[in-house]
Amino acid sequence: MRSLLALPLLAPAIFSCTSAALLPLNAHDDVELTPLPLVIWHGLGDDYGREGLKAVAKLAEETNPGTYVHIVKLGNTADQDREATFFGNVTIQLEQVCAQLAKEPILSTAPAVNALGFSQGGQFLRAYIQRCNFPPVRNLVTFGSQHNGISKFQSCGVRGDWLCRGSEALLRLGRWSTFVQSRVVPAQYFRDPEEIPQYLKHSNFLADINNEREVKNETYKHNLMKLNKFAMYVFEDDVTVVPKESGFFGEKNMTTGHVTPLKERTLYKEDWLGLQALDNQGKLDFRTVPGEHMQVSEKNLASAFKEYFGPIEIEEEFSIQSPVLVVQN
Ligand SMILES: *[C@@H]1O[C@H](CO)[C@@H](O)[C@H](O)[C@H]1NC(C)=O
Ligand SMILES: *[C@@H]1O[C@H](CO)[C@@H](O)[C@H](O)[C@H]1NC(C)=O
Ligand SMILES: *[C@@H]1O[C@H](CO)[C@@H](O)[C@H](O)[C@H]1NC(C)=O
Repeated sequence: MRSLLALPLLAPAIFSCTSAALLPLNAHDDVELTPLPLVIWHGLGDDYGREGLKAVAKLAEETNPGTYVHIVKLGNTADQDREATFFGNVTIQLEQVCAQLAKEPILSTAPAVNALGFSQGGQFLRAYIQRCNFPPVRNLVTFGSQHNGISKFQSCGVRGDWLCRGSEALLRLGRWSTFVQSRVVPAQYFRDPEEIPQYLKHSNFLADINNEREVKNETYKHNLMKLNKFAMYVFEDDVTVVPKESGFFGEKNMTTGHVTPLKERTLYKEDWLGLQALDNQGKLDFRTVPGEHMQVSEKNLASAFKEYFGPIEIEEEFSIQSPVLVVQN
C-alpha cells in the first residue's frame, strides 16, 4: 500500500497519465473522461499536514482515480498554516490563496477544478470563486460551513490550546473593532441577526462576500453562477456551528429558534449571489448527514466524491499539458 506521505509527490505523475489510465472508462474513442483536480480548504485549527486531511486526499484519489489533490496552505509550515486559521485578515488570506492556485502548475493548466471546503474553508472557497475563480471551479462542495456566519463563537473548551485561547482573548476586545476584524478569523464571519447594523458596518468578510451591503458586487454573482453544482452538507447533530443551518444559508432567530430558510430570505429573493438562478437550474443541493461537526463518515465522503468529483469529458482544446515536467522526480 502506498504511504500517505508519498502521495503529494506521486499525484502529479498520476494526473499526467490519466488519459492512458482512464481509457477503459471511455464511452467513445474520441471522448476523454478524466476527473478534475480537487482543491481542499480545511477548517479552523487544522493544517495542511494533518493525517486526517491526507486520508481525505487519498480517499478522493481512490474514489476517482487520477484525481490530483491540492490542499490550500497558508504559510510555509504546518504550524503557520494552523495559526492562519485563527489569525489574519481573511481578505489578505484570500488574495494569497488566489495567487497560490493561479500559479500552481497543474491547477492553472486544468480547464477547471473542483473544490471541497470543510467548515470555514467552505465559505472561503466560495469567496475564492466570487473574487478570483482562476482556475475556475466546476463543482463546489461544502461540509459544515458557515455560509451565513455564526451567532456564537466556538468555545475553546478544556483542551483549548494557546492559539484558540489567544483568539478568545482578542475577541474580548470587541468583535466589531477594526483591530479584531482585521486579525481574528472567526470574527470576520460573525453574524448575529440581532446585530445587523454593526455587522453591515464592520464585518471585514462575510457582509461583503454575501453581498449584503447596499452596493452589490455583480462579479460575485456572475462568478458564482458559473458553478455547475453547489452542494452544501450540514451535520444533523452539529452543536459546534451556531446555528448549524448557516451551512444552508439559513438564518436563525436565537430567541425563538425559528429558522428562516434561504428561499425565504432577501438574499435569495433578490438574488444577490445568483443562488436563486443556480437553484432554478437544479444546481443547488442541500444535504444533511448524521453526526456532530466534521464527524463525516468515509462512506458519506466517498459518495459525495463520487457524485460531484467524478470523471468528466474534457474537450480537446483543454487537454492538459504535461504538468509532470515541473515536478522534480
Ligand atoms: C467586485 O469584486 C471584484 C473581485 O473581487 C473586484 O475586483 C471589484 O473591484 C469589486 N467591485 C466593487 C464595486 O466593489
Ligand atoms: C483587511 O485587508 C484589506 C486589504 O489589505 C484592507 O482593505 C482591510 O481594511 C483590512 N481589514 C481590516 C478590518 O483592517
Ligand atoms: C426574534 O424573534 C423575536 C420574537 O418574535 C422578535 O422580537 C425579534 O425581533 C426576532 N429577531 C430578529 C432578528 O428578527
